[in-house]
Amino acid sequence: MFALSKSTQFDWRLALHDIAGSRAHAKALRAAGLLDEGQADAMDAGLAELARRVEAGEFVAADSDEDVHGALERGLKEIVGPELGGRIRAGRSRNDQIATLIRSYLRHEIRLIAQDVDGVIAALAAQATTYLGAVMPGRTHLQSAQPILLSHHLLAHAWPLVRDIDRLRDLDRRLAVSPYGSAALAGTSLGLDPELVARELGFDSSVPNSIDGTAARDLTAEAAYVLAQIGVDLSRLSEDVILWCTAEFGFATLDDAWSTGSSIMPQKKNPDVAELARGKAGRLIGNLAGLLATFKGLPLAYNRDLQEDKEPIFDGLDQLHVLVPAVAGMVGTLTFHPERMAEVAPRGFSLATDVADHLVRSGVPFAVAHEVAGETVRYCEAGGTTLQDLSREDLPKISEHLDEGVLDVLTVEGSVASRNGRGGTAPDRVQDQLGELDAARSELGAW
Ligand code: ARG
Repeated sequence: MFALSKSTQFDWRLALHDIAGSRAHAKALRAAGLLDEGQADAMDAGLAELARRVEAGEFVAADSDEDVHGALERGLKEIVGPELGGRIRAGRSRNDQIATLIRSYLRHEIRLIAQDVDGVIAALAAQATTYLGAVMPGRTHLQSAQPILLSHHLLAHAWPLVRDIDRLRDLDRRLAVSPYGSAALAGTSLGLDPELVARELGFDSSVPNSIDGTAARDLTAEAAYVLAQIGVDLSRLSEDVILWCTAEFGFATLDDAWSTGSSIMPQKKNPDVAELARGKAGRLIGNLAGLLATFKGLPLAYNRDLQEDKEPIFDGLDQLHVLVPAVAGMVGTLTFHPERMAEVAPRGFSLATDVADHLVRSGVPFAVAHEVAGETVRYCEAGGTTLQDLSREDLPKISEHLDEGVLDVLTVEGSVASRNGRGGTAPDRVQDQLGELDAARSELGAW
């Protein structure tokens, strides 16, 4: 029973948050007249000393301690004596304690994750700036679609990460409500002020419902979702990097420091960071799925099942703390090969849409333009040439609608420059986008 129940092996990391909670709780006890001034001062000094011992590693959980809360109460009694130490538990339960701790712990941790994620965004933005102007094939269904700027593609991986940071900030707003004062489930009868504790702990307010305060874990699940989403976003970026670094694509080369060799094949440069990102995404999704499965059948209020919310969350945070900076390192040190990308960009008739768009601009209905563009592709295919090779003489053989102006747009650069609406891949628009990204980053950095 004890071995099953025991949680100090994973919940010890909450120790300093627990002590901060106890210091705030002691203030509420003092305000309610349940501790006199001398007792409150001694309690606060004792808790400060306990925090010092925990930080210094002088006080650790014993084999006989069931959880972090019990262990710290034992530690407090060692410092202030059993009489005063025994007063700290009045008006609270481990149920409201743990519900509060996990929120304050998460609030602290997700800020660190946000900083890590911003590091990847910064690396993408730096590469986008370095290679501004480099073209590449844009794909849908992994098939050649239309030429794009490499920078545009890199920034397309940055924006989901911006939204992830925004998600963390938004989650923090919901996490900033303290369950302390909910006690076991029904609230406290001792005149303690939950708002006082909330303020002391840096929360915006306290929960309006003590049952919800102790029983809800939707915020833990939400945190697991955002961590999983970050994993998925890094995984998609990584999949591109893996493809780009193959000999067949040849778009990029990994830095030696961010790749690995093979013990048998001397030529190998393996994208392990990217592969681990892809792999860890699966693990992070598993953590989320496990949490939701744990919560789905639980009656109100607290149930011991809820103890199972810690390890998946801790694991997700631990994984991302290591993974995200590594992805930033890998992305920031990639060398791209603009010549190779430019060579491949027009392949697969990726300029066909430009033929159609040109005709539309000269007044032809799109359905007809689409038809003529298709005819143009078939003409080139039959002659074993590409759209870029078309000459003035070819045009009347394909369609009466084709005028010489089409030859100007049948270049990769012309195609890219023509997509100049907001959010498009034209160099000027991508330059604007870099500015927008900077603005979004500094706005989020203010959180
Ligand atoms: N360790 C528990 C958890 O993580 C908190 C303790 C509540 N235990 C109890 N028997 N009421 O959820």
